[in-house]
Amino acid sequence: MKIEFRENGSIGIETGGKLVLRQGEQEVVIEKPRVSLCRCGHSANKPFCDGAHKTAGFVAPAAVIELKTDS
Ligand code: FES
Repeated sequence: MKIEFRENGSIGIETGGKLVLRQGEQEVVIEKPRVSLCRCGHSANKPFCDGAHKTAGFVAPAAVIELKTDS
């Protein structure tokens, strides 16, 4: 799995086809090869990015993380 922290923007995740997000009792199953998650806190569609980081003036550096699993 690859996680891309976009400069001044969202968190892009290459899911490999499926991703399960859990927050407390809530679970969201996403069956897409890529998703963009909000990291600025301004999205009206959390946990997903809706582009609000642009008008919010969000500033953050870029980074990439690759996760390897045994499965
Ligand atoms: S990162 Fe895009 S709306 Fe928050």
